[in-house]
Amino acid sequence: MATPKILVLPGSTRSGSHNVRLAALAAKELALIDIDVTRISLEDYPLPLFDGDLEADNGLPANALKLKQMITAHHGVFITSPEYSASVTPMLKNAIDWISRVRERGEPTYAAFKRRAFAIASASPGRSGGLRSLMALRQILELGCGALVIPEQVAIPQADQAFDDLDNIADTGTADLLRAQLARLVDMARLMM
Ligand SMILES: Cc1cc2nc3c(=O)[nH]c(=O)nc-3n(C[C@H](O)[C@H](O)[C@H](O)COP(=O)(O)O)c2cc1C
Repeated sequence: MATPKILVLPGSTRSGSHNVRLAALAAKELALIDIDVTRISLEDYPLPLFDGDLEADNGLPANALKLKQMITAHHGVFITSPEYSASVTPMLKNAIDWISRVRERGEPTYAAFKRRAFAIASASPGRSGGLRSLMALRQILELGCGALVIPEQVAIPQADQAFDDLDNIADTGTADLLRAQLARLVDMARLMM
């Protein structure tokens, strides 16, 4: 069976980030089932705050194009974002906004978000695990960008205590949910090949 390529993208670059840790775990779980996985950091793709005049005057930043091409080189994308004020991080939203503006060789709008599957997760020290950020991220990706986001989603509450010494999720039920979500993402990504 053909193996889909999955991109893992955390919405935080903070040192000690729980979402970076969750992204690393997701990448590890995908590698364990022999998936071709790439994990990136938005730290490596700095972007100015989106501004229509900046875009009109200077065109698209090179990193917007690089991120778009990084996404389109994969069949599935796993995004794990912290919850900031009941929504996603400004860094993640800004990256999505810039990526949404990239159109190469007469492509339709939102090309990066079409013909691939997305899965979303969050981790927060709070009790809801960043669930509200998942609602916001689903809205941005599905309604804003026309992406296919699989129904399975994972929110890790009390993230400061949720991981064990090996950086696995200590609660087996939650760990199983993540594995099931990733398996479903792989299935959907395979359909996009
Ligand atoms: C500006 C700001 C707003 C936040 N708002 C929320 C929130 O609405 N809900 C929540 O659970 N945590 C909130 N937090 C706490 C973050 O979830 C917490 O800092 C988390 O560790 C950030 O993710 P990271 O560890 O991946 O960097 C907020 C943090 C910041 C800095």
